Amino acid sequence: MSGPPVQSFSNPVRVVFGATALAGLPRAVGTRTCILITSTGMAGRGGLGPIEAALGTRIAATFTDVLPNPTIASCTKAFEALEGVEAELLVALGGGSVIDTAKALAAQRAQPPGSGWLAGHLRDGLPFPEPFVPPAIIAIPTTAGTGSEVTMWATIWDDESATKRSISHPSLYPEAALLDPMLTHSVPRTTTVPTAFDALSHAMEAIWNRAANPVSDALAMRAIHLIPRALPRVLEAPDDATAREALMSAALLAGLAISSTRTALAHSISYPLTAERGLPHGIACSLTLPELLRSVDRERPDRSRLIVEAMGSGSAEAAAQELTELFAIAGTGEMLRRHVPSTATLREIQGGYIAPGRAENFVLDVDQAWAAELLERAYSATR
Ligand SMILES: [Fe+2]
Repeated sequence: MSGPPVQSFSNPVRVVFGATALAGLPRAVGTRTCILITSTGMAGRGGLGPIEAALGTRIAATFTDVLPNPTIASCTKAFEALEGVEAELLVALGGGSVIDTAKALAAQRAQPPGSGWLAGHLRDGLPFPEPFVPPAIIAIPTTAGTGSEVTMWATIWDDESATKRSISHPSLYPEAALLDPMLTHSVPRTTTVPTAFDALSHAMEAIWNRAANPVSDALAMRAIHLIPRALPRVLEAPDDATAREALMSAALLAGLAISSTRTALAHSISYPLTAERGLPHGIACSLTLPELLRSVDRERPDRSRLIVEAMGSGSAEAAAQELTELFAIAGTGEMLRRHVPSTATLREIQGGYIAPGRAENFVLDVDQAWAAELLERAYSATR
């Protein structure tokens, strides 16, 4: 990204939310033929059944081999498996990995046959073709986290260089997002926790962001209000419909907020932790939130105030402590230490924490040393 971030808001995704969201799928698909994309786990749990029944012969092919954290290699494999299939639409049923794979697949399918465009684009900046007309995407999220259903980008990991890469284009916004909170009830704790903290990170990153605007502020504040209240309830009672719905709506709102601001420093710092140590994305990007909140409060209290207000805390320090307490309730410290056992391991990380296109969105001017020191403080404070 070049130049200063733009403070504007627009989002073209048609959002349908609630218990009847999926009933609208046949009408949303219309007469188009589609490829259904999902994960092996979702296919194994019988999650495809209702969609196959609803769409019948409009499904030209089903791809069920999406693995967590899509890579250039896994997306290329999906593309090759579906190369001869004619379809105007991709229906993505799953978490962020599935929706991101669908976006990468849509982009690659808009290229001349047989080209290795995706790898060239992600590694060497090969441009999008003009015109760029990928197949449309209908996203049906099954986790409450990434917000990928309402953004125009996908995170694709580079298996050769162990780095995070991103594909982004306005034509990659899904055409529609159908969200039924019921789909998240069976999500295990090991996914619920990182995805909820990913959403919380999105919301806070939208607030301490140079591209923040009144719309993204309102969306993010509502998500910041909901997540700390709903997550402990979901962890205690995974079938609590009201709390699951709150988490899913918070993830959606946070996704809408970053669809205009993009993420910022917490995400930037997280990438080497995930690429080099395998730390789940949501744990990696939420780890620094309390320390970042303290830092923002010292120099930009006009921004930290929105987070304090949304959480209903007395001060930024109280809000930071409440976040650390929420991490302890959710057990993120244990997840963290499984991947990064000590500060010595932390210091072995090679990748930089100042990712272009992310770190400069942060409202403070910071550098690698500042970020590394903050990360170490955040690590030590996590119980
Ligand atoms: Fe994220």
